[in-house]
Amino acid sequence: MTRSASETPYVLVLFYSRNGATREMAEQLAAGVESISGIAARLRTVPPVSTTCEAVDPEIPAEGAVYATLDDLRHCHGLALGSPTRFGNMASPLKYFLDTTSELWMNGVLADKPATAFTSTASLHGGQEATLLTMMVPLLHHGMVYAGVPYRETRLLTTQSGGTPYGTSHLAGAQADRPLDDDETALSRAQGERLGRLALAMRSLHEAT
Ligand SMILES: Cc1cc2nc3c(=O)[nH]c(=O)nc-3n(C[C@H](O)[C@H](O)[C@H](O)COP(=O)(O)O)c2cc1C
Repeated sequence: MTRSASETPYVLVLFYSRNGATREMAEQLAAGVESISGIAARLRTVPPVSTTCEAVDPEIPAEGAVYATLDDLRHCHGLALGSPTRFGNMASPLKYFLDTTSELWMNGVLADKPATAFTSTASLHGGQEATLLTMMVPLLHHGMVYAGVPYRETRLLTTQSGGTPYGTSHLAGAQADRPLDDDETALSRAQGERLGRLALAMRSLHEAT
């Protein structure tokens, strides 16, 4: 499927979430993107992976965001990648999906598009920044232009929970029951707004190639 020129450009907000914390962040980030005139947010998730790797979930999950396709990625103007922290790294369902993107990589489809990342952890020092830095690596392989959260978002200086210059983070707590607080919500929104603005500004870079 090719994207028609008249279609509204969009930022793909691609996330995995098992207990809902990363999904909550994705929704705030998408709201930030949508606050920018002329660009939309497309929320997509990935199916869980199991030891039976050949098991295929229905294309449309019972609830929540639709599963991402390579075309969602191919035609996006920016990408926000969200994952729970798993041992200081992204969750395997998201990595599994990224490992199917070789064709896009070979053709430089994502090159010159802006990207960012966000994560949620159980504990404050449980690896938020390590996860964000490791999520950055495949995005750089794809030639994407990584955008974090600048310190003009002054909540970065005062937050007692999540929020890093590498991307927004969230402290979900040991019982995974802590909702996003005001700082985490505002920083997620600001991250989405910035990505939306960058996606529009950088549109001509990759549309020309
Ligand atoms: C296999 C596994 C590994 C995890 N590793 C970490 C970790 O390294 N640091 C941490 O703080 N939390 C860790 N957690 C907790 C999740 O990151 C945390 O509950 C997160 O908020 C879940 O996000 P979700 O609600 O979007 O699924 C881990 C959870 C699982 C299941």
